[in-house]
Amino acid sequence: MAKGTGLRKTLAAKFDDELKFFKGWIDKPKAVGAIVPTSSVTARRMASVIDLGSGLPVLELGPGTGVITKAILRHGVKPENLYAVEYSADFARHLRNNFPGVNVIEGDAFNLDTTLGKDADLTFDAVISGVPLLNFPVPRRVEYLDGLLSRMPEGRPVVQITYGPMSPIPPGRGDYTVEHFDFILRNIPPARLWIYRRRTH
Ligand SMILES: C[S@@+](CC[C@H](N)C(=O)[O-])C[C@H]1O[C@@H](n2cnc3c(N)ncnc32)[C@H](O)[C@@H]1O
Repeated sequence: MAKGTGLRKTLAAKFDDELKFFKGWIDKPKAVGAIVPTSSVTARRMASVIDLGSGLPVLELGPGTGVITKAILRHGVKPENLYAVEYSADFARHLRNNFPGVNVIEGDAFNLDTTLGKDADLTFDAVISGVPLLNFPVPRRVEYLDGLLSRMPEGRPVVQITYGPMSPIPPGRGDYTVEHFDFILRNIPPARLWIYRRRTH
């Protein structure tokens, strides 16, 4: 009985998340960029790049309903060491309710100096990005990446999820490297993960 109730609660929470996400997509299809949240397999893979030993905070961009946020916390990042920047007020409220202690910041990931405010000088161990970059022109994507890499120690990764076959940030446009990290068929739609790092000289 108790087990059945637990399962029903888990399923209800899962569908609630998916409904919220779908509603977000109906309201702002270009900003949300996908119809359903990232799968937990993909989320775990993205979180796996974080080096807990560095002691540095982690930056998540475009967390949506928090599938990747959850994976980052399960990986071992303390809530107060996670900064999650989300554009949608509805998603930001949902994240604050569901992930107490996480620094949820409502704002634009393309304008981090303003969005991070007093925390704009932080150095991050890794950046995990779910922002739908393909909806922005290439020069803005490159600028986005450059701004992120300047907030991290040399060599540490920015991980980006995308649904197309190519890296959303093309190689050869700046001082960074591009690495195909994974292709995950068990994601709807199938997803590719790309890693970008500052080129070491
Ligand atoms: C494809 S969804 C990914 C959501 C979640 N990370 C996941 O994987 O299920 C993209 C998310 O990025 C957010 N977003 C889009 N543009 C943004 C921006 N400029 N700054 C911050 N968040 C943004 C959207 O509101 C949405 O939550």
